[in-house]
Formats: sequence, structure tokens, C-alpha cells
Amino acid sequence: MSQPTSAPATLPAILGGAPLFPELVPIVRPALPSFAELAPDFEDMFQTRMLTRGKYLRAFEEAVAKHVGCKHALAVSSGSSALMLSYQGLGLKGDVIVPSFTFMATVNALIWNNCRPVFVDVLPDTQCIDPDAVEAAITPETTGIVAVHNFGNPVDCDRLEAVARRHNLKVVYDAAHGFGALYQGKPVGGQGDAQCFSLSPTKLLIAGEGGIVTTNHDDLAEHVRVGREYGMVPVYDTRFPGLNARMSEMHALVGLRSLGLLEEGVQRRQELVALFKRELAALPGIGYQTILPGDRCSYKDFSITVNAEEFGLTAPQLAKALKHDNVDNRQYWVPPVHQQSAYKRFAPSAETLHNTDWLADVSLSLPIWSRMDDEIVVGICRAIQQIHEHAAAVRRALAE
Ligand SMILES: Cc1ncc(COP(=O)(O)O)c(C=O)c1O
Repeated sequence: MSQPTSAPATLPAILGGAPLFPELVPIVRPALPSFAELAPDFEDMFQTRMLTRGKYLRAFEEAVAKHVGCKHALAVSSGSSALMLSYQGLGLKGDVIVPSFTFMATVNALIWNNCRPVFVDVLPDTQCIDPDAVEAAITPETTGIVAVHNFGNPVDCDRLEAVARRHNLKVVYDAAHGFGALYQGKPVGGQGDAQCFSLSPTKLLIAGEGGIVTTNHDDLAEHVRVGREYGMVPVYDTRFPGLNARMSEMHALVGLRSLGLLEEGVQRRQELVALFKRELAALPGIGYQTILPGDRCSYKDFSITVNAEEFGLTAPQLAKALKHDNVDNRQYWVPPVHQQSAYKRFAPSAETLHNTDWLADVSLSLPIWSRMDDEIVVGICRAIQQIHEHAAAVRRALAE
């Protein structure tokens, strides 16, 4: 893995200095169990030729249900199919309230279910859905609320669910970033009507690809069980149009063994974020997501906000300059969903999504992964500091 060069660089790479890292520091690096640890089980799987619907799936589902403290955990092919089947199973129709400051998959799954997304704002501090904005957006057409544990920061579930109860609405959590997060001391997973996790390689718990639905509702669990098998019941009859959303035994095995790495990974991320904050403390204009007391963010992503006036550069300018120093980064969520081609027609009136638009302008996600070395954090922060110190010249270089 790329380590920062030991000699202190004098100039950011965008101004001709040597890049702070000789090789690209990726935005994410999946933490996986060793192949040797998995090999005997793969051997067993290949011997028995049970590649799907087998014992690893069952073991994985049981382990996840126990981990999150929820009655059911159903493993599926992706976070997207988890959302599609959950919205369908809960009977969401008509208008569904959803944040725009999210990955488009949260919203895509609504369209697959013929629902109309009603975009509401997020809070500027937690960057998760604003329960007051949700309540203000409810109409007789509303059937549900979808909330996202954004970057792994738990939604204020109690406040949101109080709103949902007052209006008799379903609540689905997009928990794609949720493994490792604690809501009021407990793993996210048991709150609301369903939680939909993703297990793709950018997450803390990885199966290769995959998703999980957790729910305490027996009927929703049954819907997902049937829905991931085309909507077919054993007598070869289609109960409703489902998907092939099964999780293979290979994926279930990787997920099962990765579960044992989760706590270590999330704890390491807390240390890394604390180090980032210490190293960046002297710089003006850098802000952070607020984690509510009693909660723990999984830090699936570590996103900072950049106040251009104070820092001297906008988030996109800092993003470009960091790439010259071989520090990969992303601007999540830019553009937010309501500005994307498929969803512009659902965009609410200007100013409704004030915080979403602001966050899209100022957010920058820096590299973070569960086994990252301190030196990499220190190097990234040094790169940011150098860029800040030469902000005027960097602005000019970018304008050329
Ligand atoms: C917030 C959010 N929702 C849903 C998804 C979709 O998950 P998947 O890629 O497993 O379909 C993602 C993917 O990263 C995501 O970030």
C-alpha cells in the first residue's frame, strides 16, 4: 500500500511538487477474511455441489439476525433487490417520501414499484432525513417513508417513527451503509418496518455482492423469501412478479466469515476518524457530519464539508488538487438524485432541498478503510494542509 513520501514536500503536486503519495491511495480497500480461512468451506461446497440455497445461506442469515437483534434476516443478491422487494412487500404505492441526498438506488427501487418519489431535505448536521420536513410533506397520497443511514450515520429513528405513527405510514431504512452502525447503543436493523443492507465491496461487511433485509414482520419476511425466487411458490405458481434475487452460497460464505471482522473494522474506523479530525483541527473551514449522542456511525464513508471562503478552495477544487497528490476522493452525493436525468421531473420547488443542495456543493469523501494505517491519514491531512497553504496558486492553476 502506498505510504506518503518521507521528505516533506514543499508544494502540492498540482503546483509541480512531488506527489505526496507515490501511488494512488484508493477511496476504499475491502477488508476480507484470508483465502486460507475460506478454502475448506469452498472445498466442501465444490464437493457437495450445493452452490445456492444451502447451509451457508442459512448460517449467514441466522448470524445476521442475531447480530442485529431482529427476528428475520433474508439474504438477497444486492442492496437494490433488498429495497425493491421490501417496498413491494410492504405495499408502498402512490407517494413515498425519500431524501435526495443519497445514492440513486434508494430511489430507483421506488420507480420499479411504480411509486412517486417525494424528495425532502436532510438535516445539515447529521446529513440524514429531516423528520420535520417529512411531516410537512405528508399528504393523503403518502404511503411510506424511506430514510437512509447516510454514510453509516443512524437516522434519528425515534423522531422519524413518531411521525410515521401519527400518520400511519410504513418506514423503510436504506441501511446500505449500516453494518457497524449503532442506534442508541444497538446495531441498526431492528428499527422500522424493514432495513435494507448492501454487501458490495465498498461496505464494512462484504459478500462480494449482496444485500440483506432485516425485519420483525413475518409477512414481509415471507414476501422476500418468495420474491427472491421469482415470486414463485413451490407448486410452480407465481404469487406475484418477483426477481431472481438469491444470494449464492459463495457469497453467503464470504459474508458469514466477514461478519467476524466487522467490529474490529468499525472500531478502527472510529480511531481513524478521530485522527483525521486531530490532524485537520488547525485548518479553517473543514466541517464534519454530526453523530447524535448514543449513536455510532459505521463511517462507511468519511465525508468532510469545505467552506470555500474560510478554506480558500471549494470542495471540487480541493478534490482535483488532492488527485494530483494521488489521494483518491469522491463527492457524494453529487449531483443529488433530484438533479439526475431520470429524476428531475420529481424535483420539488427551489429551496425545498436547501441543505441537500448545500451539502452537494461542499461535501468531499476522503479515503477510509477498515485496515488503514495511521501514516496514510497523516499523509492525506498533510496534502490537504499544503493545498490550503497554497490556495490562491491552486485556484489559479485550476483556472488555466
Ligand atoms: C445508499 C445506498 N442505497 C442502496 C445502494 C445499493 O446497493 P447495491 O449496490 O448492493 O445494490 C447503495 C450502494 O452502495 C447505497 O449507497
